[in-house]
Amino acid sequence: MNYKELIATALDNALEGQLKKETIIQTIEKPKSLALGDFAFPTFPLAKILRKAPQVIAQEIAAKISIKEFEEVQAVGPYVNFFLDKRSYSDTILHQILAERAAYGNQDLGQQGKVPIDMSSPNIAKPISMGHLRSTVIGNSIAKILAKTNYQPVKINHLGDWGTQFGKLIEAYKLWGSEEEVKADPINKLLEYYVRFHKEDVAHPELDDEARAWFKRLEDGDAEAITLWKWFRSESLKSFMRIYNKLGVEFDSFNGEAFYNDKMDEVVTLLEKKGLLQESRGAQIVDLSKYNLNPALIKKTDGATLYITRDLAAAIYRKRTYDFSQSLYVVGNEQTNHFKQLKAVLKELGEDWSDDIHHIPFGLITQGGKKLSTRAGRVILLDEVLDDAVALAKKQIEEKNPQLADKELVAKQVGVGAVIFHDLKNERMNNFDFDLEEVVRFEGETGPYVQYAHARAMSILRKAAKQDLNETKSAAYQLNDEDAWEVLRLLGSFSAIIKRAVTEYEPSVVAKYSLHLAKSFNKYYAHTKVLTSDDQLIARVALVKSVAVVLKESLRLLGVQAPVEM
Ligand code: ARG
Repeated sequence: MNYKELIATALDNALEGQLKKETIIQTIEKPKSLALGDFAFPTFPLAKILRKAPQVIAQEIAAKISIKEFEEVQAVGPYVNFFLDKRSYSDTILHQILAERAAYGNQDLGQQGKVPIDMSSPNIAKPISMGHLRSTVIGNSIAKILAKTNYQPVKINHLGDWGTQFGKLIEAYKLWGSEEEVKADPINKLLEYYVRFHKEDVAHPELDDEARAWFKRLEDGDAEAITLWKWFRSESLKSFMRIYNKLGVEFDSFNGEAFYNDKMDEVVTLLEKKGLLQESRGAQIVDLSKYNLNPALIKKTDGATLYITRDLAAAIYRKRTYDFSQSLYVVGNEQTNHFKQLKAVLKELGEDWSDDIHHIPFGLITQGGKKLSTRAGRVILLDEVLDDAVALAKKQIEEKNPQLADKELVAKQVGVGAVIFHDLKNERMNNFDFDLEEVVRFEGETGPYVQYAHARAMSILRKAAKQDLNETKSAAYQLNDEDAWEVLRLLGSFSAIIKRAVTEYEPSVVAKYSLHLAKSFNKYYAHTKVLTSDDQLIARVALVKSVAVVLKESLRLLGVQAPVEM
């Protein structure tokens, strides 16, 4: 039901055309507190037109208006405040949620448009970093929210499986590596070689020349280079998959940078044909000064291609393959310039769809306020973080609910869910500090807190199921008490929340909402005996059911599980 529209129509009639309906709609606001009603119309814009005091106008309007869905229309100072009819609102919203279930909040914004989401995209031979974790969970959640609003997301893992770093890695491996060592502990060993390379090349700059030569051999298809590269890639992928399984994230494509090797010539030719390539000290560049950007480096002096060359090929490939309505890149804030350059070069090529490319940046995860860094060896190993989170969750479950049947499974859902939720509850551009104890707490603004509220609702429903409630489809769910009201209003705002989350590419909108709903449900539960038999029993059970449905759906959209008991 569009209540704003109802109010605007009534105001339009009352004002007899003295204010445009569009203006009326824009003027209607949500009061700060529910005590001031559910909607308010400030009369200031009318004072000049009508040459009357706003207070007087408010009185006159309030006297004229009556709307079925509203129990009261009241003038307070210069405002007309509208109070929804609690019983009818409650009845409508609860029936709707229980009829639609997980589909509640679905809406057709996307009209099935395809949306490739470039997400996670870690680099081969390095551990998956906390930045990649952010990209993975933000991208995964955006994909789910897009699907809920009728887009077709395509989750692409643009693996960093090509580039000069492979020259460095091969060089380091040839110098210090051994096959047995790598086989025993691939990611850590490869990282160790890589870190050592960066330490030693300070004193021995010739190492860099060797590394460059190795990368050139790789690009030219040299057998030894290719064999090593394939081996590093498959070992790394195995360890990435372990993490994705733990997180419960799946991909539609693993086309990484190397996938575009045979598509790069076309890009370079296109740029040449348009006369966009310029030579600069032996390298090929595209000048972007009219965009106020540094030139895009397309080919190095030795002919090797670059990160952006591969991204140009990938962008064009995605347009051809998916004919997308939008193309998203969930990549750290530090790459903002790269994506500006990418879009600018495509624009120069005359590809108008470059406007549909959106970089979805995010801030850093810090520890003790310090930036993490692979090169400095200051890394949080995600694999370990997830295991530690699960162990911590298990400890708390042992304390709180030692009888719980499926402890291992629930501990996994809670521990992993906590890490994901902690990431998503912050607006994505914010930096945040990672402190595991804080993340897995059952109280405060955490994933376990929301999961716990859901489990509590489920436990009430299990008890209710044992009573013979005689629920029928036509039962009246007319709650009208203040405690239920806050919960009901939150339930009713779910669609608007989803819409905001998808237009802002901001899962935190959903995460914050779920915290809000969990909190107000806990308050309701503390004040109200749900299962007392009186004439509102069935309505209260319907409210609890609806809360469970919407909490579970909110968590699902974040990529977090909702155990029925914990
Ligand atoms: N592998 C890159 C990194 O770890 C991220 C790739 C992002 N995606 C892209 N199409 N450039 O920094």
